[in-house]
Amino acid sequence: MKYRVCFAFLCCVVVSPFLAAQSPTPSPTPLPLILVKAAHWVDPVAGVVRDNQAILIEGDKVKQVGAAADLSKGLAPDVRVIDLGNATVLPGLIDCHTHVTAQPENYYEDIFRKSPIDVATTSHIYARRTLLAGFTTIRNVGAVEFTDIALRTAIDTGKIPGPRMLCAAVPLGSTGGHVDLTGFSPYLEFKTVAPAVANGPEQIREAVRRNVKYGADWIKIMASAGVLSEEEAVGAPQYSQEEMKAAVDEAALWGRKVAAHAHGTEAIKMAVRAGVASIEHGSLIDDEGIRLMKEHGTWLVADIYNDDYILTEYTRLGYPQKIIDKERLVGRLQRENFRKAFQAGVKCAFGTDAGVYPHGWNAKQFAKLVEWGMTPMQAIQSATTSAADLIGWKTKVGQLAPGYFADLVAVKGDPLKDVSVLEKLDFVMKGGGIYKNGLTNDPLTVIE
Ligand code: ARG
Repeated sequence: MKYRVCFAFLCCVVVSPFLAAQSPTPSPTPLPLILVKAAHWVDPVAGVVRDNQAILIEGDKVKQVGAAADLSKGLAPDVRVIDLGNATVLPGLIDCHTHVTAQPENYYEDIFRKSPIDVATTSHIYARRTLLAGFTTIRNVGAVEFTDIALRTAIDTGKIPGPRMLCAAVPLGSTGGHVDLTGFSPYLEFKTVAPAVANGPEQIREAVRRNVKYGADWIKIMASAGVLSEEEAVGAPQYSQEEMKAAVDEAALWGRKVAAHAHGTEAIKMAVRAGVASIEHGSLIDDEGIRLMKEHGTWLVADIYNDDYILTEYTRLGYPQKIIDKERLVGRLQRENFRKAFQAGVKCAFGTDAGVYPHGWNAKQFAKLVEWGMTPMQAIQSATTSAADLIGWKTKVGQLAPGYFADLVAVKGDPLKDVSVLEKLDFVMKGGGIYKNGLTNDPLTVIE
């Protein structure tokens, strides 16, 4: 191994000057330019809607933003103009809590008849649906056997359509906890190269390293019990303070942040004290938890649409009564506590837990956010500027300004009057490429 590396190094050093002399660097081909115009533009940074704006896109980035009349003047003939007419444009949406590689079909079948290979084979379907629903960026907070990493690679190399992905790879939790196969025979065990169960600081540190080694951008821990798993007491902490701290410290060594699944009152506080970047779910948060989150600047990612879907569909999907009962315990409280936390000034970013319900339905959560205390503009900000801030991409996505990715969506209706119009978008662009066009009659190339 060592020998081969040295050989390769020598080749570079010895051969490259000759190569350089023979082939002068060709001048780069200019990137295509696109001008997108529309009647209304939501600017989540300023929290306003501007009329008759346009953006000039060069390659996959925004080059210039301004009044459509100004940007249209003296355009070079090769600039392609896309006029979205009376539509409203928003920056591409961001979902900070997805499990895009799978979605539930049947409790028994999903556990016993599907392997990670089934997951890997079908995950592209969900990635595409997510993108077509206008979610151009997602933070995926848990998947089996690095299937999310493989999906991200396939998307980033242009092989399949899908959102930009930040991946947490395999979520980490304790024996008997939310990631373990709890409630079944002790003789039942599945093979894995990437175990989700990690106990004690040493195992947790090792698991963080393994995730990072295979491509994780984020680390996800299960700080408390969950709903969709068979252990008791949905709010109970499942890691000790020391274990949560080990996860955060180890992640930080590798430049990663931690998202903590936590429904429980105490688990939320422990995770915040350990220094996680976001609390996922946050269902049973109390006043002290709210205070701590504000003090530490911890984000809340509350999946408040989920309850509707679980209570109407999960009995039909064969989920045990125990799980349905747990949902009844937290569903309403989560919504009430979300409202309380948001009104108290806790930073809230949009995250749906899509994968618990069908991918592509992510935007259904907007109406819930408005029902439970946000204005439509605040709900949009939670899925653009705030989400970008949480995921560490606030200079790349979440707004349409020079240098940002040309990720945008457009809709005929007015999302500031009725935020639910975002559930059915008419136009989706990611990185200057068009993935959905129900707005113009021009023969635009839609990427399939
Ligand atoms: N993945 C979460 C869990 O199993 C889903 C919780 C859904 N319920 C809710 N009210 N948000 O704990």
